[in-house]
Amino acid sequence: MTVGAYAMAARQPGPPQVLHEIGFAPMAPAAGEVLIRHSAIGVNFIDCYFRSGLYPWPVPSDLVTGSEAAGVIEAVGDGVTGLTVGQRVAYTLPNFSYATHRTIAAQHVVLLPDGISDAVAAAVMLKGLTVRYLVKDSYAVKPGDTVLFHAAAGGVGLLAGQWLKAMGARAIGTAGGPDKVALARAHGFAEVIDYGATNFADEAKRLVPQGFDVVYDSVGKDTLARSLGCLRRHGTLVNFGQSSGPVTDFKVSDLAAGSYHLTRPVLFHFTSSRAWLEQAAADLFHLIGNGTLKIAVHSAPLREVARVHSDLEARRTTGSMVLIP
Ligand SMILES: NC(=O)c1ccc[n+]([C@@H]2O[C@H](COP(=O)([O-])OP(=O)(O)OC[C@H]3O[C@@H](n4cnc5c(N)ncnc54)[C@H](OP(=O)(O)O)[C@@H]3O)[C@@H](O)[C@H]2O)c1
Repeated sequence: MTVGAYAMAARQPGPPQVLHEIGFAPMAPAAGEVLIRHSAIGVNFIDCYFRSGLYPWPVPSDLVTGSEAAGVIEAVGDGVTGLTVGQRVAYTLPNFSYATHRTIAAQHVVLLPDGISDAVAAAVMLKGLTVRYLVKDSYAVKPGDTVLFHAAAGGVGLLAGQWLKAMGARAIGTAGGPDKVALARAHGFAEVIDYGATNFADEAKRLVPQGFDVVYDSVGKDTLARSLGCLRRHGTLVNFGQSSGPVTDFKVSDLAAGSYHLTRPVLFHFTSSRAWLEQAAADLFHLIGNGTLKIAVHSAPLREVARVHSDLEARRTTGSMVLIP
């Protein structure tokens, strides 16, 4: 048994306080797997969806959530090519990351270039690859496009603002409160609407009267219906999350108001393609390496994950948070 190996697990669906420490023995890698000793673990809203029970509980007992991390390979299973003990790597895959170690199929793992620190990699594998598919796959953003992006000061949001600006789009964000508005403005958004202080749809229509080419909505319940009303005719709504709660009152006929397009994508449907993962990670690391994407990483001890979840759900966080084992 690896001395000192531990994980933070939820004993049942519930509030952040269900998270508690458990000891465990990291599994030796089977054929096609590697064992990683984590050095940094990303925190994402999806972790709260699993912990709270919004998403189906995927195991019969305690759930170790967390879906992205970086670290060093400690052991390699039979048949794995291109990965060796001691290399720095990162991955994103649903659950089991809030732990000192993880045994994982090698097909999910990417090597880290020298210029990408472990903390940055753990902060961007899930969020950065999400932005990559949002702006290239869910809707292919073109120079001059008008884009409305909710929760612009969040982990995904700060990356999106910078990426969209680099693509030549006019990105308008929404965020809660003046500090978040200022932060999002400093990360590529041309304008940021404080949607806690004003009806964002009115302000968005004032800024872009012809309607937006695309709206990215991860807030869900509180915003989705009004997001649809911000689109131009034939515009695209990308609903990729539900931080405020699930959308329950949407009807297909709502799209008829402007012949709108709607998609509800999930990152892991993209990363399951090894070719997509390699290309998207290379794009992401390139944009970080050349300074296009600046990543401010906040960190906390892994054992303090319950507090981090409370802060995330109470809208007290900005940007990316990583846990250090
Ligand atoms: N489908 C996918 O593939 C995929 C992948 C990654 C992330 N996501 C989604 O993208 C979103 C952003 O993820 P993230 O990890 O970067 O989180 P985040 O944006 O750092 O945090 C969520 C933000 O949502 C906003 N929000 C609005 N209403 C809220 C409410 N009632 N409760 C809590 N937050 C509320 C808050 O910002 P304000 O205070 O500024 O409103 C909050 O900071 C999440 O919805 C997540 O599920 C989806």
